[in-house]
Amino acid sequence: MSDTFYTTTAIDYTNGKPHIGHAYEKILADVITRYRKLSGDNAYFLTGVDQHGQKVQQTAEKEGIHPATYVRKTTKNFTNAWNKLQLNYDGWAETTDERHKKCVTDILQKLHDQGQIYKKQYKGFYSIKQEQFLTDKERDEEGNFGPEWGDVEERDEENYYFKLSDHVQWLRNFIETNNDFIIPKFRKADVLNAIERSEDTDLCISRPKERLRWGIELPFDPDFVTFVWFDALINYISFAGYNKSPDSDLPDFDKLWPANLHIIGKDILVPSHSIYWPCMLHAIGFTDQQMPKLLVHGFWNLNSGKVSKSEMTPQQAALMDPVNLVDKFGADAIRYYLVRDIHTGKDSNFDPERLIMLFNTELANNLGNLCNRGLSMTKRFLNGTTAKSEYDDQLSKDLRQQSITTIATYKDAMDRYAISEALEAVIKYITLCNQYTDKQAPWSLAKDDSKTPELTTVLGHLTQVVAIVSVLLKPIIPSACERIQNQLNAPFLEDININNLKWGIIPTDHPLAKPKPVFPRISLEEE
Ligand code: ME8
Ligand code: MG
Repeated sequence: MSDTFYTTTAIDYTNGKPHIGHAYEKILADVITRYRKLSGDNAYFLTGVDQHGQKVQQTAEKEGIHPATYVRKTTKNFTNAWNKLQLNYDGWAETTDERHKKCVTDILQKLHDQGQIYKKQYKGFYSIKQEQFLTDKERDEEGNFGPEWGDVEERDEENYYFKLSDHVQWLRNFIETNNDFIIPKFRKADVLNAIERSEDTDLCISRPKERLRWGIELPFDPDFVTFVWFDALINYISFAGYNKSPDSDLPDFDKLWPANLHIIGKDILVPSHSIYWPCMLHAIGFTDQQMPKLLVHGFWNLNSGKVSKSEMTPQQAALMDPVNLVDKFGADAIRYYLVRDIHTGKDSNFDPERLIMLFNTELANNLGNLCNRGLSMTKRFLNGTTAKSEYDDQLSKDLRQQSITTIATYKDAMDRYAISEALEAVIKYITLCNQYTDKQAPWSLAKDDSKTPELTTVLGHLTQVVAIVSVLLKPIIPSACERIQNQLNAPFLEDININNLKWGIIPTDHPLAKPKPVFPRISLEEE
């Protein structure tokens, strides 16, 4: 049993509530964690919120409230959304938490004592949006700072710097020789390019208090607070129990680290997660073996081309909000769509009409039909109890054979975080099973007493498939699969290890519970 530690990045507070992209990232992490638990791993899922920084301070000022009040209010929007989406996280990381602040402060003091942090005067351009100093490398061909940097102002001030340059040589070598540090591999080139460009620059890790009060004070200079990225990145270890105090209730660090994966979006790979973070870890003494892996996902594009944001009706805009979507269609529909209609690592267009179409065709119709036929017909024709199979044919053999292939394909894809591929394999199998049912026509077999052996075989096969599929889909659509497993009257499926999942999982003479439709069809029409 390997300990696996998954974590997603904390979130900023510009809008005060999560959007589809955030929801996707957390669902992806939740699906992977649930799958790992299903595989018998002792997986741990950490997520949280990034509560410090200039943007938070500014928004709170605009609203006329203290940043701490603003942060409390917005954090509730996130926890509420994550509960509605049925995210089963094991640890919650809020960067205003005293345990986190202590960890950041200890690390700053240690690096300062080691001479890794120094003070200097610097005059340069600063992007408020990205909360970082810009150099000439950030200028476009015309010599300007592009719109991605937002408002840029010139600043001349003293700050503290972390000696990033001391670690860049190590980092380049580490990335060149470790092929699985960045998943997918094609992003490695971007990182190596960025390292070439940043070789001789150190990282400004402080902000003077005259400008920013909402942050963690530097332990060696009370006139400054910590740069928000330096603070936020440390959440991955602080909430995993790194250097925790003896009476702390945080997990044991040695149990959670280093077998872990950071799940992040492509926009925060460079420079924060692939340059600052490994160099920070290296500076505080982490070995190459202790470096985390980075799973870099793509973006959900909210402007699908059909409508631009400004042209949206209020109804369309509401469909871009994950909480509204859950209220309207249920958590399973959103969870399913957000991992089904994107290839991990690539981008996709968010389209509520596709969400509805995929839910209705693949779940309500295809899987719903399979459950309905398998469970209802067993109820109707076999008094609700599975019976011994005394008949066999080529179609039934194929169906059994395909269950083995489907489980193997699913596992292979899930192990590569290719959720959509895993789902495709399961859907294909359900389709095959529905075709099997059409060909075997159990409703006709039931009319002829001499065909009872055929009938029990066919319905028994459907029950096996429903059971297998309910286990495979559970990490993605947990509620629906729970309902299916209740109707199968099979509590033993709840804590099954996927490696023990096989044909025959539902025994002979097994009584099923009362069948009910599993999926209501959904539509955009207002009721
Ligand atoms: O970057 N599609 O927070 P954040 C998919 N606080 N993913 C998206 C997305 C989209 N449209 N938009 C954003 C931060 N994301 C920092 C992180 S980590 C110590 C601090 C992803 O709220 C984005 O890539 O801007 C990131 O992984 C996450 O959502 C939070 O983004
Ligand atoms: Mg961001």
